[in-house]
Amino acid sequence: MAVSIKSPREIELMREAGKILAKTHEELGKQLRPGMTTWEIDHLGEEIIRSYGCKPSFKNYNGYPASICVSVNDEVVHGIPDKKHYIKEGDIVSLDAGVIYKGYHSDAARTHGIGEISKAAEQLIEVTKQSFYEGIKFAKPGNHLNDISTAIQKYAESFGYGVVRDLVGHGIGSHLHEDPEVPNFSRRRKGIRLQPGMTLAVEPMINAGRYEVVWLDNEWTVVTRDGSLSAHYENTILITGDGPEILSLTHA
Ligand code: MF3
Ligand code: CO
Repeated sequence: MAVSIKSPREIELMREAGKILAKTHEELGKQLRPGMTTWEIDHLGEEIIRSYGCKPSFKNYNGYPASICVSVNDEVVHGIPDKKHYIKEGDIVSLDAGVIYKGYHSDAARTHGIGEISKAAEQLIEVTKQSFYEGIKFAKPGNHLNDISTAIQKYAESFGYGVVRDLVGHGIGSHLHEDPEVPNFSRRRKGIRLQPGMTLAVEPMINAGRYEVVWLDNEWTVVTRDGSLSAHYENTILITGDGPEILSLTHA
């Protein structure tokens, strides 16, 4: 399918969706405590999203059973909230959330440390976030999609980290997943030319060890094959004439 260019009206709705999602992440991130279950995190997140009059994008998406993907330590993405999974001091917890506002989606992820975490874990979280920023330096008209992908990969690999290959970012709009795919690694061919009005979910998933991942038997949860920690950082961005606008920008 062709990559859609959003109209000014669609962009306004996506800005609003992004703002609400950013507030959701800010509020939810502040509530994380050792001893909570991943189920409680999902429940709180869903309540926050609904308090803004939005719907969670992920609930029942292809059968996904929750609103927030909660992925702990070696879980890369799509962790399933569980009443028996307690988070503890030293864990790293990736929260991936999506909201639908008046028919338009926004999608963003953050990785949080619980209490005091190792220096290695702190660096992984920081580098994953920065790899997103290195990538979107290239998110402007005239550049190609692969410029973003290559920058993310170069930055993360310069720390010896593994860049997940089996999952990618995506276009976003009236559907959660639209064309194009947005890899976090170079596919060598240039990919599409970026144009104002394109909206993309750019989402590096970075492993402290090797890049390979495996799926758990629940058919959702992706974990690192070598058991190393993994972090995730994602925002919904808009390509403008002046460069990227981060629609899901958080401040807390
Ligand atoms: N950010 C993830 C993605 O783009 C979230 C999807 S989780 C799902 O794939 F449950 F909705 F599938
Ligand atoms: Co996404």
